[in-house]
Amino acid sequence: MSKYKVTRDGIRIYPLSEFSGMRTAGRVAAQILDDLCDHVQPGIKTIDIDELVRDRIREYGVKSSTIGYRGYGHASCISVNHVVCHGIPGPKVLQSGDILNIDVTITADGWFGDSSRMYAAGQIARKSSRLLDVTHKSLMLGIEAVKPGGFFGDIGHAIQKFAESHRMSVVRNFCGHGIGREFHLPPNVLHFGSRGTGAKLEPGMIFTIEPMINIGKPGTKILSDNWTAVTLDRSLSAQFEHTVGVTEDGYEIFTLSPGGLFHPTRHLN
Ligand code: MF3
Ligand code: CO
Ligand code: CO
Repeated sequence: MSKYKVTRDGIRIYPLSEFSGMRTAGRVAAQILDDLCDHVQPGIKTIDIDELVRDRIREYGVKSSTIGYRGYGHASCISVNHVVCHGIPGPKVLQSGDILNIDVTITADGWFGDSSRMYAAGQIARKSSRLLDVTHKSLMLGIEAVKPGGFFGDIGHAIQKFAESHRMSVVRNFCGHGIGREFHLPPNVLHFGSRGTGAKLEPGMIFTIEPMINIGKPGTKILSDNWTAVTLDRSLSAQFEHTVGVTEDGYEIFTLSPGGLFHPTRHLN
C-alpha cells in the first residue's frame, strides 16, 4: 500500500513539498549526462561510455536504477542511429556522423531521476541535425502543454503535430511513464493523440515525456537480445527525455542540464 493519493485513473499524486527529492535525483541524472559530453567522440566504444556512467554514479553517491531492472545489466541505454531505444552498451565503436541517445536513470534517496538526450559523434549530416532539432522541439512543446486542468492528450497532440508537420513520424510502441518513488508507474504517457483526451493533469503528478521520432516510418521491432528496439525501415531515430512534475500553475522540469548541454548542437538549453 502506498501512502500516496491515487486518482481514479490510477495516477499517483505527490505532495508538492516532496518535489525536493525529485530535484536532487533529476539534477544528478542530468549532471551525469552533462559529464559524458566531452567523451562522446568517434572511436569510443558504447560500453566505455557505460563505464563512465557507472563511475559518476559511484562518485555522486547514488544508485543505478537500470542495473538489475528486469534483468537489464547496464547503467545506461545507448541507442545509435536507427536504434530507437534500449540499445545495450557493448563493443560498438562510434563513427563520425553517428547520432546516439544516452538514457540514464538513477535513484537518490529513493527518488528516481530519468533523462535521456541525443549526442553527435564528430560531424553529422544535415538530415541528422534536423532530426535532433525536431525531436528536441517536440519534447519541449509537449512539456509546455503540462498544466493543471489540461490533459495527457494535450501533450501527445503537441508532440505529434509538430513532428508530423516536419514530415517525421512519432514512434507508437514506446511511451513515457509515471515515476517518483518507483521507476515505472501509471500512466502511459503517449507521444501522439488528441487534445482534451486521456487523464486530466493535476498538481503533484510526476512523469516522463520521452518522444522517439523517426525520419521514416514509425514502425519498430525488438532484436533477439530482447531489448534493442530498431526502426523497421532502418531510418534514423532520435529521442529526448525529461522527468517533469505538475505544479499549481504549470510544470517543473527536474532533469534540466546544469551546463546547458541538453541539445548537443545548440548552446543554452
Ligand atoms: N530509462 C528508460 C526509460 O526511459 C528505461 C530503461 S529500462 C532498461 O524508461 F532496463 F532498459 F534500462
Ligand atoms: Co523514462
Ligand atoms: Co529513460
